[in-house]
Order: sequence, then C-alpha cells, then structure tokens
Amino acid sequence: MKSMRDFIAQAESEGMLKRIKAEVDWNLELSHIAKLNEENQGPAILFENVKDYDSPVITSVCTTTQRLAMIMGEPRESTLVDLMRVWVEKNKNKIPPKWVETGPCKENKMTGDEVDLFKFPAPKFYPLDGGRFFGTAHFVVTKDPDTDWVNIGTYRLQLLDKNHLGTQFIKGKHSDIMLKKYQAMGKPMPVCVVVGCDPLLFLMGAARFSAFESEYDFAGS
Ligand SMILES: Cc1cc2nc3c(=O)[nH]c(=O)nc-3n(C[C@H](O)[C@H](O)[C@H](O)COP(=O)(O)O)c2cc1C
Repeated sequence: MKSMRDFIAQAESEGMLKRIKAEVDWNLELSHIAKLNEENQGPAILFENVKDYDSPVITSVCTTTQRLAMIMGEPRESTLVDLMRVWVEKNKNKIPPKWVETGPCKENKMTGDEVDLFKFPAPKFYPLDGGRFFGTAHFVVTKDPDTDWVNIGTYRLQLLDKNHLGTQFIKGKHSDIMLKKYQAMGKPMPVCVVVGCDPLLFLMGAARFSAFESEYDFAGS
C-alpha cells in the first residue's frame, strides 16, 4: 500500500469501507457519525457529499485491529499483540525512502494569495472545540536545521484563517526540539503538512521513535 487511494481500494475490496452519499454537515454531524460508527467497530467511512464542498472526507481508517493489520500488511485475524510484535521486529531495520521527481500531491497547487484553506472540508468535531480541525489523522514533516534528521509527527492542526493553521508541539516532542533550534537562529521553521497519505505514515507519526531517527526510514521496513 502506497497511498490513501490504495487504502480506499483495498479496504473497499475487503468490505472494510463504506461510502456515504447522503449530504453530511462538516459542522459536528460528520464527527458524530464517525464517533458512533467507531464505537460499534464499524467500517472506514468515505463521506462523499460534505455540505458546501466537492471533496470527500475519510474517517475511521485505523479504528479496528483488522484495519490496522491491513495497513501493516499482516493477516487480518492478527491480534493487537501480534501486530505489536511485528512492529517491534520490523523497527529493528531501516529502509530509507527513495527520492522521486514528482507525485500526485503536485497535481493541484495553490500559491500566495490563491491559498485558501477554507476550500478544504475541515470538520468541527465537538461543540466546545475552538474551531475546525484541518489535520487529525495526518502528519507534519520537519527537518532539523543542523543535521539531515527529518521527523514526522502527528500534531493536530486547527484552521485559524484562510492561510494559517495552528498547532501545539508539546514540549520535548521532536518538532518542538527542532523549532527551538530555529527560534534560537531567528529563522522560521519550514513545515510540510500531509493529509490523506498512506495511513501507515500517520501511525508512524503518532508512534514514539528515538530522536535523531526518521520515521520514514522505519516505514520502509
Ligand atoms: C490523533 C492524534 C493527535 C495528536 N495531536 C498532538 C498534538 O496536537 N500535539 C502533540 O504534541 N502531540 C500530539 N499527538 C501525539 C504525538 O503524535 C506523539 O507523541 C508522537 O510520538 C509525536 O512524534 P515525535 O515523537 O516525532 O515528536 C497526537 C497523536 C494522535 C494519535
């Protein structure tokens, strides 16, 4: 599996994904349906008709052990303990990523004043949330200014306005370590946000790996 598109095709072929064609509101309704579905160990859901938007939203990708097994390429009857053992074993090896010239993420570009984050159907999840969240099961890529260390980390992203997202790197998280170095240098930290990638990379972003090691290298193994 190399992409979210691959996940959707694979999950659908194995009966682990449902498409919702009825209109669903990004404002509290979508998250509520996803929550109830997850409590019942339901399928991944592709909301194809989000109110006010043309683009879909996927939820509940990693919310059952069976789908975690699928994302890790393991037998579907694996238990969480089985998966944990595989995770530990595989993370003894590193396979660095290969650089490529381009990819599907370059198909649509917005730059400068064209940037409008409201063009994306970011959901509001809970009534007391401070706003809408652009990234939940996503990851943030940053690079250490002193070395070749590239980190991926899952840090939630709130939609603040048309060209700003807010996040909180909790103290000591790897992006926070990097950010403090950039701040000391008086430089802004370049950041890349990836939403809708191979779900394995979201899991890597949320998992704990040693500092100075790149999750990308372990994802390869
Ligand atoms: C859905 C989700 C959202 C998260 N949001 C945050 C966040 O906003 N800030 C944060 O510091 N950690 C957050 N975490 C925890 C980090 O992803 C986790 O600690 C991870 O190991 C951080 O990567 P790092 O070790 O490379 O810093 C979140 C985890 C998940 C699963």
